[in-house]
Amino acid sequence: MITSGTDYHRHTSYDRHNLGGHFLNWADQPNIYKEYPGSDMGRLSREVPAINKKLSEMIGKETLKDYPEHLVSDHVRQIFTLAYTLTSKSRYPGGEFFHRSVPSAGGLYPCELYMAVQSVTGMEDGLYHYAVRHHALERLRKGSFLKTGGVLTFFITAVFYRSAWKYRDRSYRYHLLDSGHLVENLCLTLKGLNLPFELDYDFEDETVNPLLGLDTQREVCLAVVRVPGKETSSQGRPEQVKDLPAVFQKASRVAYKEIRYPAVEEIHKNSAYVLTSRDPLPNILFNIGPVPHLWQKIAEPDHWPEKMNYTQAILKRRSLRNFVTTQLPKAHFEALLTMLWKTDPLPGFYEDSVCMGFLAGNVEGIEPGCYWVNRSEQCVSLVKPGEMMGRMAHICLDQEWLGQAALLFFFVTNLKLLEQNRGSRGYRHAMLTAGRFGQKLYLGATAMELGCCGIGAFYDHEASAFLDLSEDSQMLYLVAVGIVKKIF
Ligand SMILES: Cc1cc2nc3c(=O)[nH]c(=O)nc-3n(C[C@H](O)[C@H](O)[C@H](O)COP(=O)(O)O)c2cc1C
Repeated sequence: MITSGTDYHRHTSYDRHNLGGHFLNWADQPNIYKEYPGSDMGRLSREVPAINKKLSEMIGKETLKDYPEHLVSDHVRQIFTLAYTLTSKSRYPGGEFFHRSVPSAGGLYPCELYMAVQSVTGMEDGLYHYAVRHHALERLRKGSFLKTGGVLTFFITAVFYRSAWKYRDRSYRYHLLDSGHLVENLCLTLKGLNLPFELDYDFEDETVNPLLGLDTQREVCLAVVRVPGKETSSQGRPEQVKDLPAVFQKASRVAYKEIRYPAVEEIHKNSAYVLTSRDPLPNILFNIGPVPHLWQKIAEPDHWPEKMNYTQAILKRRSLRNFVTTQLPKAHFEALLTMLWKTDPLPGFYEDSVCMGFLAGNVEGIEPGCYWVNRSEQCVSLVKPGEMMGRMAHICLDQEWLGQAALLFFFVTNLKLLEQNRGSRGYRHAMLTAGRFGQKLYLGATAMELGCCGIGAFYDHEASAFLDLSEDSQMLYLVAVGIVKKIF
């Protein structure tokens, strides 16, 4: 029985000598588009939103002062057009594959997006599901049913079997990381529209899942993002509402024959517990192993080498693996780090659940080696000099192309410390946060015409040993960035 993030992470570790073979059952390949048979769809126009801001103008900036007087339906259209849209198409011998504005482990897209609307001009109050394939909203509930004044409340869910089909027990890691990517895209889009927002990873599962009409053996809510009303504070939670008809729950099923993975269900169920105390966490960075002591300040670049605005970066984002060993200029490196340590003006309750570092390959002015990052002090510490990229590529299931990247960012937490302070829910906080940082890197890299690729596949014990992590600490995610042969 999996009772904690520590148990789950250990249970789903990859081991070079015991990886086991797993053949994909193509007959039961999950449907990556959720469908409500016979539903009435309100299609959204695909017109590209006019958010011309650069990422450097958005990350870490206040939005409230320009908060629009009224939200109109066009805000909603723009949000969906950027946050979770289909962006480009790849052809392969068996068919076509549509990429989205967020990456997804294995391209399996476990996430679904829902939105509750209250008092938006040009829209009826209610609960809507976003049908990605059709770029349309399907109304599941009518009226307003949220206790407090959130104008827009977004719910990000994951359909277990979509990722479990390939990754089995390990898939809950990807449900959370993928959701974190989507949360970040959503937050940035809201920022681009000057809308304030709040994150909530600590909602009550038993209230929110029925509200969305989910079959919780198959699909669960992992994150809530709320745009508060101008006058109201939205600290409240959704009320108990009537169950949706059973036919809605059936829509959580995505394959004729689905296999259940008890470890996924257990960690989700056992991380439902929410701690009411919101005391700050001890700094994770100083609780994961040997404490770095020599710090080097990294400045924000004088000129950000961005080649496109946020909207263009979203639409162009792809996972690129064709890294070349050309030196990464200093300004690009400084810009990536600045993006990571600029904190949004949100309660910092979740961002402190992980710490980060990077392996540097060929970066201008930076000695190759392994570094830890102190986000609050905006400095880095070299803890192990030398060539490390090839070694990490080997640890990442021999994905040798990683050895050519300029930077390999890694995200780490101390699972025990997290649990002592945040309860079992802390595991969700950390993985969602790692995903958010990953999305920042993807978009920052794309805007600077660099390549980027998230990496969820690694031999866990080897990664811990390589980074000298304490027994209770684990690497959660890795993101490669660097110059690539051809970007688009
Ligand atoms: C959490 C996560 C883990 C990933 N792990 C890997 C990986 O180990 N190796 C890899 O080549 N790509 C990895 N990817 C990238 C996905 O394969 C990629 O996002 C997906 O195929 C869709 O392609 P696109 O990002 O170009 O749209 C990962 C992406 C995410 C979000």
